[in-house]
Amino acid sequence: MHKIELLAKTHDRDGFDCGSEPLNLFLKQTARQHAERGISRTFVLVDEAATPPKPIVGFFSLNICQIKAESLTPQEAKKLPRDVAGVRLGRLAVAKTYQRQGIGKTLLVAAMGKFIEIFNSAGGIGLFVDAKDQDAKRYYEQFGFVSLPSNELELFLPVRTIHEALASLG
Ligand SMILES: CC(C)(COP(=O)(O)OP(=O)(O)OC[C@H]1O[C@@H](n2cnc3c(N)ncnc32)[C@H](O)[C@@H]1OP(=O)(O)O)[C@@H](O)C(=O)NCCC(=O)NCCS
Repeated sequence: MHKIELLAKTHDRDGFDCGSEPLNLFLKQTARQHAERGISRTFVLVDEAATPPKPIVGFFSLNICQIKAESLTPQEAKKLPRDVAGVRLGRLAVAKTYQRQGIGKTLLVAAMGKFIEIFNSAGGIGLFVDAKDQDAKRYYEQFGFVSLPSNELELFLPVRTIHEALASLG
């Protein structure tokens, strides 16, 4: 049984390999420092029954972000103040041996759940993500993320889509 936990010393960061060295290095070298300094939070998916150091199946990072309403589509920007807050999905990765088994989707759904917790206590217009390439962009689009007009590799998932997605999952 898989479980999402806040990244901690008990997790095997060194053993993680998603095939992208910058993402591996972020997990190994940066994620915990960022958490301590309040820059971002990283959550990992692990096997509930694993003993420390627990192998990491996948992870994602979130941070609060501020964006200019003018960078959204005119329809989304309507009635918003000039500067608005959102949550950025800074990183998302699944270990190579677990890719294409729905783990990425599980992590995205968990990130949406975390967004709703933030939304309920502090607001936020939705989730933002920087896709690292066209493949990643296509990956996010299947979950309803839409490209920003100014940069097609920066995508936005509005709060209403997140509510709908979570409601459809029960
Ligand atoms: C991209 C990544 C997070 C996807 O996770 P995953 O667990 O392999 O993906 P899932 O099993 O949840 O895939 C869900 C759907 O997306 C599709 N998909 C998977 N990887 C994809 C990709 N790279 N591009 C486009 N579609 C993809 C699958 O076909 C699947 O659809 P299906 O179930 O209808 O067949 C993972 O492959 C990964 O970590 N890659 C390396 C790092 C990376 O590129 N991260 C993105 C950062 S911008």
